[in-house]
Amino acid sequence: MDISERVSKLTPSLTLAVDAKAKAMKAEGVDVIGFGAGEPDFDTPEHIKAAAMGFLEAGFTKYTPSSGIPELRAAISEKLKKENNLDYDPSQIIVNCGAKHSCYNALLAVLNPGDEVLIPAPYWVSYPEMVKLAGGEPVIVPTTAENGYKLTPELFREYTSPLTKVVIINSPGNPTGVVYTENELAALAEVALEDDIYILSDEIYEKLIYDGAKHSSIASFSKEVYELTLTVNGFSKPYSMTGWRLGYVAAPKNVAKAIDSLQSHSTSNPTSFAQKGALAAYKGPQDCVDEMLAEYTKRRARVIELLDDISKLSYVKPNGAFYFLIDISKTGMGSVEFSEKLLEQQKVAVVPGVAFGDDNTIRISYATSLDNIEQGLARIKKFVG
Ligand SMILES: Cc1ncc(COP(=O)(O)O)c(C=O)c1O
Repeated sequence: MDISERVSKLTPSLTLAVDAKAKAMKAEGVDVIGFGAGEPDFDTPEHIKAAAMGFLEAGFTKYTPSSGIPELRAAISEKLKKENNLDYDPSQIIVNCGAKHSCYNALLAVLNPGDEVLIPAPYWVSYPEMVKLAGGEPVIVPTTAENGYKLTPELFREYTSPLTKVVIINSPGNPTGVVYTENELAALAEVALEDDIYILSDEIYEKLIYDGAKHSSIASFSKEVYELTLTVNGFSKPYSMTGWRLGYVAAPKNVAKAIDSLQSHSTSNPTSFAQKGALAAYKGPQDCVDEMLAEYTKRRARVIELLDDISKLSYVKPNGAFYFLIDISKTGMGSVEFSEKLLEQQKVAVVPGVAFGDDNTIRISYATSLDNIEQGLARIKKFVG
Protein backbone atom coordinates (compact mmCIF):
# COMPACT_ATOMS: atom_id res chain seq x y z
CA MET A 1 0.00 0.00 0.00
CA ASP A 2 1.42 3.43 -0.96
CA ILE A 3 1.99 6.15 1.61
CA SER A 4 0.97 9.62 0.54
CA GLU A 5 3.71 11.94 -0.73
CA ARG A 6 2.66 14.40 1.94
CA VAL A 7 3.43 12.03 4.77
CA SER A 8 6.38 10.21 3.25
CA LYS A 9 8.21 13.56 3.04
CA LEU A 10 8.13 13.87 6.84
CA THR A 11 11.11 13.29 9.10
CA PRO A 12 10.11 11.48 12.31
CA SER A 13 10.56 13.52 15.50
CA LEU A 14 14.09 12.82 16.78
CA THR A 15 13.28 14.30 20.18
CA LEU A 16 10.48 11.80 20.73
CA ALA A 17 12.70 9.01 19.34
CA VAL A 18 15.52 9.77 21.80
CA ASP A 19 13.09 9.94 24.68
CA ALA A 20 11.51 6.63 23.65
CA LYS A 21 14.93 4.95 23.39
CA ALA A 22 16.01 6.21 26.82
CA LYS A 23 12.70 5.07 28.35
CA ALA A 24 13.05 1.63 26.74
CA MET A 25 16.59 1.26 28.12
CA LYS A 26 15.35 2.31 31.55
CA ALA A 27 12.56 -0.27 31.36
CA GLU A 28 15.26 -2.91 30.74
CA GLY A 29 16.91 -1.83 33.97
CA VAL A 30 19.72 0.25 32.43
CA ASP A 31 20.71 3.26 34.53
CA VAL A 32 20.00 5.93 31.92
CA ILE A 33 19.98 9.66 32.63
CA GLY A 34 17.47 11.26 30.29
CA PHE A 35 18.13 14.83 29.19
CA GLY A 36 15.97 14.35 26.13
CA ALA A 37 12.44 15.18 27.11
CA GLY A 38 10.92 18.58 26.53
CA GLU A 39 8.56 17.90 29.37
CA PRO A 40 8.33 19.29 32.92
CA ASP A 41 9.07 16.58 35.48
CA PHE A 42 6.55 17.94 38.01
CA ASP A 43 3.09 16.55 38.58
CA THR A 44 0.18 18.70 37.42
CA PRO A 45 -0.85 20.91 40.38
CA GLU A 46 -3.53 19.38 42.60
CA HIS A 47 -6.20 22.05 42.14
CA ILE A 48 -6.05 21.59 38.37
CA LYS A 49 -6.40 17.82 38.64
CA ALA A 50 -9.22 18.21 41.17
CA ALA A 51 -11.16 20.53 38.88
CA ALA A 52 -10.92 18.13 35.94
CA MET A 53 -11.78 15.12 38.11
CA GLY A 54 -14.80 16.88 39.57
CA PHE A 55 -16.18 17.62 36.14
CA LEU A 56 -15.33 14.13 34.91
CA GLU A 57 -17.25 12.60 37.78
CA ALA A 58 -20.15 14.98 37.27
CA GLY A 59 -20.48 13.71 33.70
CA PHE A 60 -18.89 16.58 31.80
CA THR A 61 -17.86 14.03 29.22
CA LYS A 62 -19.61 15.06 26.03
CA TYR A 63 -18.71 17.13 22.98
CA THR A 64 -18.11 20.80 23.68
CA PRO A 65 -18.11 23.56 21.06
CA SER A 66 -15.23 22.59 18.76
CA SER A 67 -13.34 25.81 19.48
CA GLY A 68 -13.48 25.23 23.25
CA ILE A 69 -15.82 25.93 26.15
CA PRO A 70 -16.88 29.59 26.34
CA GLU A 71 -15.63 30.06 29.92
CA LEU A 72 -12.13 28.88 28.98
CA ARG A 73 -12.00 31.14 25.92
CA ALA A 74 -13.12 34.01 28.15
CA ALA A 75 -10.45 33.18 30.76
CA ILE A 76 -7.78 33.09 28.04
CA SER A 77 -9.01 36.42 26.70
CA GLU A 78 -8.71 37.93 30.21
CA LYS A 79 -5.25 36.43 30.72
CA LEU A 80 -3.99 37.79 27.40
CA LYS A 81 -5.35 41.24 28.24
CA LYS A 82 -3.94 41.31 31.76
CA GLU A 83 -0.55 39.68 31.24
CA ASN A 84 0.25 40.28 27.59
CA ASN A 85 -1.54 43.53 26.80
CA LEU A 86 -3.37 41.74 23.99
CA ASP A 87 -6.96 42.51 23.14
CA TYR A 88 -8.55 39.35 21.77
CA ASP A 89 -12.28 38.78 22.01
CA PRO A 90 -13.06 35.20 23.15
CA SER A 91 -14.39 34.54 19.63
CA GLN A 92 -10.85 35.12 18.33
CA ILE A 93 -9.44 32.38 20.55
CA ILE A 94 -9.54 28.74 19.48
CA VAL A 95 -8.58 26.10 22.02
CA ASN A 96 -6.69 23.21 20.42
CA CYS A 97 -5.28 19.82 21.40
CA GLY A 98 -1.88 21.17 22.54
CA ALA A 99 0.17 24.11 21.27
CA LYS A 100 1.66 21.79 18.65
CA HIS A 101 -1.82 21.43 17.24
CA SER A 102 -2.30 25.19 17.55
CA CYS A 103 0.78 25.87 15.42
CA TYR A 104 -0.28 23.29 12.86
CA ASN A 105 -3.83 24.61 12.62
CA ALA A 106 -2.57 28.17 12.31
CA LEU A 107 -0.31 27.16 9.42
CA LEU A 108 -3.06 25.16 7.72
CA ALA A 109 -5.34 28.17 7.97
CA VAL A 110 -3.03 30.61 6.16
CA LEU A 111 -0.76 28.63 3.82
CA ASN A 112 -1.37 27.93 0.15
CA PRO A 113 0.74 25.40 -1.78
CA GLY A 114 4.24 26.76 -2.32
CA ASP A 115 4.00 29.56 0.25
CA GLU A 116 7.29 30.00 2.05
CA VAL A 117 7.66 30.03 5.82
CA LEU A 118 10.79 31.50 7.39
CA ILE A 119 12.07 29.40 10.28
CA PRO A 120 15.08 30.67 12.22
CA ALA A 121 17.45 27.79 13.02
CA PRO A 122 18.07 26.20 15.46
CA TYR A 123 14.32 25.64 15.46
CA TRP A 124 11.79 23.51 17.30
CA VAL A 125 11.84 20.17 15.52
CA SER A 126 8.19 20.21 14.43
CA TYR A 127 8.03 23.55 12.59
CA PRO A 128 9.50 22.49 9.23
CA GLU A 129 7.47 19.28 9.15
CA MET A 130 4.23 21.10 9.97
CA VAL A 131 4.90 23.60 7.21
CA LYS A 132 5.43 20.74 4.75
CA LEU A 133 2.23 19.03 5.90
CA ALA A 134 0.35 22.27 5.35
CA GLY A 135 1.65 22.44 1.77
CA GLY A 136 4.18 25.20 2.42
CA GLU A 137 7.93 25.37 1.89
CA PRO A 138 10.09 25.73 5.00
CA VAL A 139 12.89 28.24 4.44
CA ILE A 140 15.51 27.79 7.11
CA VAL A 141 17.25 30.96 8.25
CA PRO A 142 20.52 30.09 9.98
CA THR A 143 21.36 32.12 13.07
CA THR A 144 24.63 31.93 14.97
CA ALA A 145 25.84 31.63 18.54
CA GLU A 146 27.64 34.97 18.04
CA ASN A 147 24.33 36.81 17.69
CA GLY A 148 22.71 34.74 20.46
CA TYR A 149 20.81 32.51 17.97
CA LYS A 150 18.51 35.40 17.15
CA LEU A 151 16.84 36.26 13.89
CA THR A 152 17.90 39.79 12.94
CA PRO A 153 16.02 42.21 10.66
CA GLU A 154 18.90 41.90 8.17
CA LEU A 155 18.60 38.10 8.02
CA PHE A 156 14.81 38.36 7.87
CA ARG A 157 15.04 40.68 4.82
CA GLU A 158 17.74 38.55 3.19
CA TYR A 159 15.59 35.41 3.27
CA THR A 160 12.29 37.07 2.36
CA SER A 161 11.06 36.39 -1.17
CA PRO A 162 7.83 37.24 -2.98
CA LEU A 163 6.57 33.83 -1.79
CA THR A 164 7.17 34.45 1.92
CA LYS A 165 3.89 34.17 3.78
CA VAL A 166 4.83 33.50 7.41
CA VAL A 167 7.76 33.96 9.78
CA ILE A 168 7.90 31.84 12.92
CA ILE A 169 9.12 33.54 16.07
CA ASN A 170 9.52 31.39 19.17
CA SER A 171 10.46 33.40 22.24
CA PRO A 172 11.43 32.08 24.74
CA GLY A 173 12.74 29.51 22.30
CA ASN A 174 13.26 25.81 22.05
CA PRO A 175 16.04 24.56 21.73
CA THR A 176 18.12 27.71 22.32
CA GLY A 177 16.35 29.27 25.32
CA VAL A 178 16.67 32.58 23.46
CA VAL A 179 14.46 35.46 24.67
CA TYR A 180 14.04 38.39 22.29
CA THR A 181 13.87 41.85 23.81
CA GLU A 182 10.95 44.12 23.06
CA ASN A 183 13.14 46.23 20.77
CA GLU A 184 14.37 43.21 18.86
CA LEU A 185 10.81 42.01 18.33
CA ALA A 186 9.70 45.48 17.28
CA ALA A 187 12.45 45.55 14.64
CA LEU A 188 11.33 42.16 13.29
CA ALA A 189 7.71 43.32 13.28
CA GLU A 190 8.75 46.29 11.09
CA VAL A 191 10.15 43.87 8.50
CA ALA A 192 7.01 41.73 8.60
CA LEU A 193 4.90 44.84 8.02
CA GLU A 194 6.93 45.85 4.94
CA ASP A 195 5.77 42.75 3.07
CA ASP A 196 2.61 41.78 4.98
CA ILE A 197 4.16 38.61 6.34
CA TYR A 198 2.21 36.73 8.99
CA ILE A 199 4.01 36.22 12.29
CA LEU A 200 3.41 32.92 14.02
CA SER A 201 4.40 33.84 17.57
CA ASP A 202 4.87 30.71 19.65
CA GLU A 203 4.88 31.88 23.27
CA ILE A 204 4.51 28.52 25.00
CA TYR A 205 7.56 29.13 27.26
CA GLU A 206 6.62 32.69 28.25
CA LYS A 207 6.52 31.94 31.98
CA LEU A 208 9.87 30.15 32.09
CA ILE A 209 12.21 33.08 32.02
CA TYR A 210 15.40 33.91 34.00
CA ASP A 211 17.95 36.53 34.92
CA GLY A 212 15.50 39.42 34.65
CA ALA A 213 14.62 38.74 31.00
CA LYS A 214 11.15 39.97 30.05
CA HIS A 215 8.64 38.34 27.77
CA SER A 216 6.90 40.54 25.19
CA SER A 217 4.02 39.57 22.96
CA ILE A 218 4.70 40.89 19.49
CA ALA A 219 1.00 41.33 18.64
CA SER A 220 0.72 43.98 21.37
CA PHE A 221 2.99 46.43 19.54
CA SER A 222 0.45 48.02 17.15
CA LYS A 223 -2.85 47.42 15.43
CA GLU A 224 -0.98 46.62 12.20
CA VAL A 225 1.25 44.00 13.81
CA TYR A 226 -1.75 42.55 15.65
CA GLU A 227 -3.51 42.04 12.31
CA LEU A 228 -0.56 39.96 11.05
CA THR A 229 0.08 37.91 14.17
CA LEU A 230 -1.13 34.48 15.19
CA THR A 231 -0.35 34.14 18.90
CA VAL A 232 0.12 30.59 20.17
CA ASN A 233 0.28 29.57 23.81
CA GLY A 234 -0.77 26.66 26.00
CA PHE A 235 -0.81 24.80 29.27
CA SER A 236 1.80 22.03 28.84
CA LYS A 237 4.89 23.89 29.97
CA PRO A 238 3.71 26.44 32.58
CA TYR A 239 1.36 24.07 34.42
CA SER A 240 3.06 20.76 33.68
CA MET A 241 0.05 19.55 31.69
CA THR A 242 1.77 17.92 28.72
CA GLY A 243 -0.50 14.91 28.62
CA TRP A 244 -3.68 16.95 28.81
CA ARG A 245 -3.17 18.28 25.28
CA LEU A 246 -4.35 21.85 25.52
CA GLY A 247 -3.11 24.90 23.68
CA TYR A 248 -4.66 27.81 21.86
CA VAL A 249 -4.33 30.26 18.99
CA ALA A 250 -5.44 33.85 19.29
CA ALA A 251 -5.74 35.45 15.88
CA PRO A 252 -7.45 38.09 13.76
CA LYS A 253 -11.15 37.29 13.31
CA ASN A 254 -10.94 35.77 9.83
CA VAL A 255 -8.08 33.44 10.77
CA ALA A 256 -9.77 32.39 14.03
CA LYS A 257 -12.92 31.62 12.08
CA ALA A 258 -10.94 29.54 9.58
CA ILE A 259 -9.25 27.57 12.37
CA ASP A 260 -12.60 27.00 14.05
CA SER A 261 -13.99 25.59 10.83
CA LEU A 262 -10.88 23.45 10.22
CA GLN A 263 -10.96 22.08 13.74
CA SER A 264 -14.68 21.30 13.53
CA HIS A 265 -13.87 18.87 10.70
CA SER A 266 -10.71 17.37 12.14
CA THR A 267 -10.30 16.87 15.90
CA SER A 268 -13.47 18.69 17.05
CA ASN A 269 -13.12 19.92 20.63
CA PRO A 270 -10.15 19.29 22.92
CA THR A 271 -11.13 16.85 25.71
CA SER A 272 -14.08 18.28 27.64
CA PHE A 273 -12.95 17.80 31.26
CA ALA A 274 -9.33 18.65 30.40
CA GLN A 275 -10.60 22.08 29.36
CA LYS A 276 -12.06 22.47 32.86
CA GLY A 277 -8.59 21.72 34.24
CA ALA A 278 -7.13 24.44 32.00
CA LEU A 279 -9.78 26.83 33.28
CA ALA A 280 -8.67 26.08 36.84
CA ALA A 281 -5.06 26.64 35.77
CA TYR A 282 -5.81 30.17 34.58
CA LYS A 283 -8.36 31.08 37.25
CA GLY A 284 -6.65 29.46 40.24
CA PRO A 285 -3.59 30.41 42.30
CA GLN A 286 -0.39 30.91 40.33
CA ASP A 287 2.13 29.97 43.03
CA CYS A 288 2.50 26.54 41.40
CA VAL A 289 4.09 28.28 38.40
CA ASP A 290 6.39 30.30 40.67
CA GLU A 291 7.44 27.16 42.52
CA MET A 292 8.32 25.32 39.32
CA LEU A 293 10.17 28.37 38.04
CA ALA A 294 12.17 28.58 41.28
CA GLU A 295 13.18 24.95 40.85
CA TYR A 296 14.17 25.46 37.18
CA THR A 297 16.15 28.52 38.21
CA LYS A 298 18.20 26.46 40.68
CA ARG A 299 18.80 23.72 38.14
CA ARG A 300 19.77 26.16 35.42
CA ALA A 301 22.35 27.72 37.73
CA ARG A 302 23.82 24.30 38.50
CA VAL A 303 23.96 23.32 34.81
CA ILE A 304 25.87 26.54 34.13
CA GLU A 305 28.41 25.70 36.87
CA LEU A 306 28.88 22.17 35.63
CA LEU A 307 29.07 23.05 31.94
CA ASP A 308 31.56 25.82 32.59
CA ASP A 309 33.80 23.12 33.97
CA ILE A 310 33.89 21.21 30.65
CA SER A 311 36.30 23.10 28.45
CA LYS A 312 35.42 21.39 25.18
CA LEU A 313 31.77 22.44 25.40
CA SER A 314 30.37 25.92 24.99
CA TYR A 315 26.90 27.43 24.95
CA VAL A 316 24.97 30.67 24.71
CA LYS A 317 23.43 31.32 28.11
CA PRO A 318 19.71 30.60 27.71
CA ASN A 319 17.32 33.09 29.30
CA GLY A 320 14.17 31.07 28.88
CA ALA A 321 12.57 27.61 28.60
CA PHE A 322 14.44 24.65 30.17
CA TYR A 323 17.10 23.77 27.63
CA PHE A 324 20.77 24.29 26.93
CA LEU A 325 21.95 24.07 23.36
CA ILE A 326 25.55 22.98 23.69
CA ASP A 327 28.21 23.46 21.02
CA ILE A 328 30.12 20.20 20.58
CA SER A 329 32.21 21.17 17.56
CA LYS A 330 35.48 20.99 19.56
CA THR A 331 34.89 17.28 20.13
CA GLY A 332 35.19 16.65 16.39
CA MET A 333 31.95 14.64 16.37
CA GLY A 334 28.70 15.34 14.57
CA SER A 335 25.61 15.57 16.74
CA VAL A 336 24.23 12.10 15.96
CA GLU A 337 27.58 10.39 16.54
CA PHE A 338 28.02 12.31 19.79
CA SER A 339 24.53 11.46 21.04
CA GLU A 340 24.70 7.79 20.06
CA LYS A 341 28.13 7.24 21.62
CA LEU A 342 27.14 9.15 24.74
CA LEU A 343 24.09 6.95 25.16
CA GLU A 344 26.06 3.76 24.49
CA GLN A 345 29.11 4.57 26.60
CA GLN A 346 27.79 6.72 29.43
CA LYS A 347 24.04 6.02 29.31
CA VAL A 348 23.05 9.65 28.94
CA ALA A 349 20.31 10.62 26.49
CA VAL A 350 20.53 14.00 24.76
CA VAL A 351 19.00 15.25 21.52
CA PRO A 352 21.32 15.65 18.52
CA GLY A 353 21.21 19.22 17.24
CA VAL A 354 20.72 18.02 13.68
CA ALA A 355 17.05 17.64 14.70
CA PHE A 356 16.98 21.42 15.18
CA GLY A 357 18.96 22.24 12.05
CA ASP A 358 22.37 22.57 13.75
CA ASP A 359 24.69 19.56 13.62
CA ASN A 360 27.32 21.30 15.79
CA THR A 361 25.16 21.11 18.88
CA ILE A 362 23.26 18.85 21.22
CA ARG A 363 20.33 19.83 23.42
CA ILE A 364 19.91 18.93 27.05
CA SER A 365 16.75 19.59 29.00
CA TYR A 366 16.98 20.44 32.68
CA ALA A 367 13.40 19.47 33.32
CA THR A 368 14.87 16.75 35.48
CA SER A 369 16.09 16.46 39.08
CA LEU A 370 19.23 18.15 40.39
CA ASP A 371 20.55 14.71 41.15
CA ASN A 372 20.17 13.66 37.51
CA ILE A 373 21.78 16.91 36.43
CA GLU A 374 24.81 16.27 38.67
CA GLN A 375 25.22 12.69 37.55
CA GLY A 376 24.42 13.29 33.90
CA LEU A 377 26.84 16.18 33.49
CA ALA A 378 29.56 14.26 35.33
CA ARG A 379 29.10 11.48 32.78
CA ILE A 380 29.15 13.94 29.89
CA LYS A 381 32.39 15.41 31.26
CA LYS A 382 33.92 11.95 31.39
CA PHE A 383 32.71 11.19 27.86
CA VAL A 384 34.07 14.42 26.42
CA GLY A 385 37.33 14.12 28.33
C1 LIG B 1 8.44 25.59 20.96
C2 LIG B 1 7.33 24.67 21.27
N1 LIG B 1 6.10 24.97 20.83
C3 LIG B 1 5.06 24.17 21.07
C4 LIG B 1 5.21 23.01 21.78
C5 LIG B 1 4.01 22.13 21.95
O1 LIG B 1 3.57 21.93 23.21
P1 LIG B 1 2.20 21.18 23.48
O2 LIG B 1 1.70 20.64 22.19
O3 LIG B 1 2.49 20.11 24.47
O4 LIG B 1 1.27 22.22 24.03
C6 LIG B 1 6.47 22.64 22.24
C7 LIG B 1 6.66 21.35 22.95
O5 LIG B 1 7.74 20.85 23.12
C8 LIG B 1 7.56 23.49 22.00
O6 LIG B 1 8.78 23.20 22.43
